[in-house]
Formats: sequence, structure tokens, C-alpha cells
Amino acid sequence: MNVSNEKSNYADLSFEAELTLKRLKPQLKQFWETTDELQPSIDAFNSRLDEYWPDLFNLLFQLYGTRYDFFYHLGEILLTCGRAWNNRDDELRQVDQKRIYDKDWFQSESLVGGALYVDLFSENLGKLREHISYFKKMGITYLHLMPLFAVRPGNNDGGYAISNYRSVDPRIGTIADLKGLADDLRESGIVLVLDFVFNHTSDDHLWAMKAQAGDPEFQQYYYIFPDRAMPDRYEETLREIFPTVRRGNFTWHDGMESWVWTTFNSFQWDLNYSNPAVFNAMVGEMLFLANTGVDILRLDAVAFIWKQMGTGCENLPHAHTVIQAVNTVSRIAAPGLLFKSEAIVHPDEVVKYISPEESQISYNPTLMALLWESLATRKVDLLRQSLSHRHKLPTHTTWVNYLRCHDDIGWTFDDADAEVVGINGYNHRQFLNKFYTGQFPDSFARGIPFQHNEQTGDMRISGTMASLAGLEMAVEEGDDDKKAAAISRILLLYGVTLSIGGIPLLYMGEEWGMMNDYDFIKDPAKAGDTRWVHRPKMKWEYLDNLEDDGAIRNQIFSSLVKMIKLRKQTPAFSGLTMELVSSGNNHILSYVRQSNGNRILVLANFSDNPRKITGNALRTAGLGRFFKNLLSDEVVATSEDLVLEPYELMWLNRD
Ligand code: GLC
Ligand code: GLC
Repeated sequence: MNVSNEKSNYADLSFEAELTLKRLKPQLKQFWETTDELQPSIDAFNSRLDEYWPDLFNLLFQLYGTRYDFFYHLGEILLTCGRAWNNRDDELRQVDQKRIYDKDWFQSESLVGGALYVDLFSENLGKLREHISYFKKMGITYLHLMPLFAVRPGNNDGGYAISNYRSVDPRIGTIADLKGLADDLRESGIVLVLDFVFNHTSDDHLWAMKAQAGDPEFQQYYYIFPDRAMPDRYEETLREIFPTVRRGNFTWHDGMESWVWTTFNSFQWDLNYSNPAVFNAMVGEMLFLANTGVDILRLDAVAFIWKQMGTGCENLPHAHTVIQAVNTVSRIAAPGLLFKSEAIVHPDEVVKYISPEESQISYNPTLMALLWESLATRKVDLLRQSLSHRHKLPTHTTWVNYLRCHDDIGWTFDDADAEVVGINGYNHRQFLNKFYTGQFPDSFARGIPFQHNEQTGDMRISGTMASLAGLEMAVEEGDDDKKAAAISRILLLYGVTLSIGGIPLLYMGEEWGMMNDYDFIKDPAKAGDTRWVHRPKMKWEYLDNLEDDGAIRNQIFSSLVKMIKLRKQTPAFSGLTMELVSSGNNHILSYVRQSNGNRILVLANFSDNPRKITGNALRTAGLGRFFKNLLSDEVVATSEDLVLEPYELMWLNRD
């Protein structure tokens, strides 16, 4: 287990790579002869293979080089690539070709994302195709469909317990429906994002079933132990991710009379990537997904994919090596495909997954958490401190900026950043948990705890954007001022994620102020997981009635759509480069975005009081004498101080 080859005996690995490829190529040639692949596209494949093989060999050698069967597995991986290319449609190959030369296509200001559960949004894939006009109306150009594959019966962790990566959940549709949708989306200029849940399979996946039937080959696909000896040793350094589900990280399996590694739910079996057969098998599943027409794969739970005794088994160097190898495979077999990492961990670790060679795109959990933090404290010092050295990323990569998603909020800011601004991280997290569960005096939030660990005091927060921002309470109290404040908070947060640099991602339902749905506890398969409180069904009837009763929804919806439209018309909002400027005020976040000769100053007042920024500060930020607020069309002179209303947001363009 955990075979690695850090100290290789080979002086010149690139020579070994070349020699190995020479030895393997006849096998590949034989394969092409069994297909109808035309020579030019075989040549294109081969030229990418020649380009990326040295990297791929190097990465796989680090992971599996000491295995006696290394050479065999390399051959298999190569064939997996060949087969996938052979199965790739012409249309996707054309997209590949375009993206090879346009590496930064995803940096465009025209990219605006939405994420949804197909069953909750439109019941099935067929009906989703009918709703493309809705995405167009909103300006959504990037659509993340939550896992829609075949799952185990009962609790399936919101689709994250997959029993077959090659078949769609029959309640949602078929692979043919998925491909049809992908075609329609491509035609509409909408990018398709799907999950690649590669840390674990469901306990009823074929491999897990074979393991349960006693097949040793498939028992090696997972981490299975006959007694507590190894699990106990691992536990000494492991964290608990779902402590309310089960203590520890292992689940006893009666049939096998063994312990299985299950980081998340007990029915989600962690895959054993120290076995090259697992790597090859999962790369096969990944390329199958790529060939359905996916543009971006969301790499689920990346932090956990490599285990090593004596460590926390999170963010290990070989986890990166595995992902880089997966990425390199796709450069060869599906070159247009990008990866988005889901690493909801310490910001120092999040950033390590981001590079053109690993994940070109990453969730930005620190920005997410700190925007909520700023809303609670009404101050932006911690947010600024974090942004000042954490926003920048390598070229050809970007952030996905989100406020809510299907998961909980964890306060993953850096304690050292907090210390710089005089905040104690531990106490502050306690405060934020109290605030967002509505237990702090004057809190406007209606969140509920997720995975409260009594032992460590650790807790995360569930709740929809609107409920966390105060709308639920305001509506309940029938208080118009509070309603207005909640809406302003929501729009303020949108205004930042739409402008700060990166791809904004909405969790669908947010656009009409969806509130917590406490009915989830009626469903036994959901009752134990409070994240379901923020995963309600889309209520289309609300949107039909935007005019009268739906005043709040209308206001949120139309303001958001307007902001999305403006973002797309504003070249300064492309890419990532962002410069913080001093607002001279601890309540106003201020930054400049500049691109293609266009320059925008963003001001965001996180306070529930009016706050002032001096004309001098504005002029220093390079605004000149007059500027226009794109959001209100007002023109203002910098000869005077500028007052921002509570929670007011401005996108200022030099006029
Ligand atoms: C990711 C998903 C989450 C799921 C977990 C296990 O974090 O976002 O919903 O519970 O992985 O798959
Ligand atoms: C993720 C994160 C954790 C998150 C969970 C899903 O991988 O590590 O913070 O809450 O899985 O909910």
C-alpha cells in the first residue's frame, strides 16, 4: 500500500519514459487497426501523446513505479486513452481544437454560472432542456448539474454515492438525454459542468459488490481491514468529516467481517488510489463522462484521495500527483476538458490544487466564508487581509466565486490572517456559528448547525442565502425595513462575486430568494443531514407571478439579472486581476478591476449604516473628476465625499 518512488534509481527518467512509450506503441497501433479511426486523428492523438507522455510517465512512476506490474498498468492506461479518443464525437474534437489554442476561454466576463439538482429543478433531463430559455433569460452561461448518476437506494448523499458512473439515475433520464442536453447547451453557448465523484463509490457499485462477494482483486479497490489494528492507527491522526453520521472514518461490514474506509457516509467507500488498477478504472469513467459532452469536471472531495499512515490523510502530496496524472490523461484523450477542484480546506491547501497542470479552476471557499463573515461583523478587515495575498492565482487558472452551494458553510479562513487584524480564529468561529444559527443578539440569520462535533465544538452552517441574509426572519416578522435590508445584503454579496475576478456561480433558487425548507426532516433518507434545508424544490409558480405577490422575488431576480447583464458588458470584469484600494473605512470593501482598457472601481458597504468615502480616496483610486455608477446610472463628481447607503454596492466607471 502507498507505494511510492520518491527516490528513483533511474538517473534519467525521461529516457525511461521514451523507451517505455516505444515499447507500448505497437499495442496502441494494434488497437487503432481494430477501429475506423482516420489517420489524421490518430496522428493528432499521437502528437499529444508524445507531448504529454513524459509528464504522465513521471507522475505515474512516482505513484506506482515500484510495482512489479507497473508496465502492464501503463499499457492499460494508454489503451484507455486511445479508446476514449476513438469514442469522442467530432463536435467535441472541434471544441478540443479550439481550446488548445484558446487556453483562457473560461476567463471571459461572459461566463456566469448556475448550479442545480436536476430532479429538484425540473424533475428530469428532458424537462431541463425545455428550461434553457430560463438560463438565457438570466444570463447563465455555465451550468453545473449536481450528480445525476445511478445511485444506491435510500440515502445517497445528494447523488454523491454513485453506483454506476456510466448510467444516469433512471428517475432523471438516460445517457442519451444527457448527451442531448449537452448538445443543446453547446448550441446555446452554455458550458456544461458535471461532478466527477472520484474519492469514493457507493457500497453498491459493481466493484464494491465484487469486493463484498469476496473477490480479492476488487477488495484491493478499497481500503478494507480485517480488524481494528490498522484503522486504529490511522484514526490517531484523522479528522472526522461527518461525526454525526458515525464516529471515526471506518465502517464495519458484516458480510466481509471487515472494516471499510468511509470518510463520509458509511455507504461511501473510499477508493484506493495506491492501486494502479483503480487509477486506470477511474480514468476510464472520467473519460466516459468527458465524452458525454462535459466541458468542466468538478473534482469532488479532492483533499481525501490519498492516504498515508501517520498523517491527516488530507491534501497529501500524492493526492496532487493523482490529480495531475488525471489531468495529463485528459490533455491526451479529451484536451478541451477542464477541472474544477472542490477543496474545502485551509486556504493554503486550496491553492495547491490550482494550476494548469492540476485544476484550472477552483471553488473559492475562503472568499465565500469571509463574505458571510463581513456581513456578520459589518467589517471588511479580515476579508481585505485575506484577499490581499490570496486572490491572485497562476496564469491560465481562475476562481469560482460562490455564496451558497448544496453544501454547508465552514469557516475556513486562516488564523494567521485573523491574527493580523486582531481576531482570534477559534473565538471568531464560535461567534460566527452563533451568529448564523441566530443565537447571537440581533442576528438576522436563520441557519442551522451541520455536523456539530460535541467533542471539538466544531460546527458548520446550513441554510439558504436568503435565510442566512435575513429574509426569512424579515418575512416572518412582516417587517418591510428588515426585508429591504435583507435584499440589500443579498445584492451586495452578488455584486462582489460578480465583479471581484473569477467565475461567479449561483446556486439556483438564490435568484428568487429561496428560503430554508424545513420539510426535509419528513424524509427519512434526508432527515439526518441538515444540508437538505437549503436544497428545496424549484417553485416555478413563483416566477410566473413576479409582478404582484412576488415583489420580493421580483426585486431580487430582476436586480440580479441586471447585474449579470452589466457584468457581461464590462470588459474590466474578465480575468482575475484585482487591486485592493484603500477606502479609508473599515466597512467598505473597495477594489479596482482593470482589463482591456476598461477600469472599474467597486465599492461595497458591509455596514447597516451609511458610510462615507472621501473624494480624495476616490481620486487616489484613479477615478478622475467624474464617474458613473453603472448600477444606478448616476454620475457623481469626486470633488465631494461619497456616501454609501447601508449595504450599498457601486460599480464605478470613470466617465
Ligand atoms: C463533497 C460534496 C458533498 C458530499 C461529499 C462526499 O464535499 O460536495 O456534498 O457530501 O463530497 O461526496
Ligand atoms: C467537504 C469538506 C467539508 C464539507 C463536506 C461536505 O469535502 O471537507 O467541509 O462540509 O465535504 O459537506
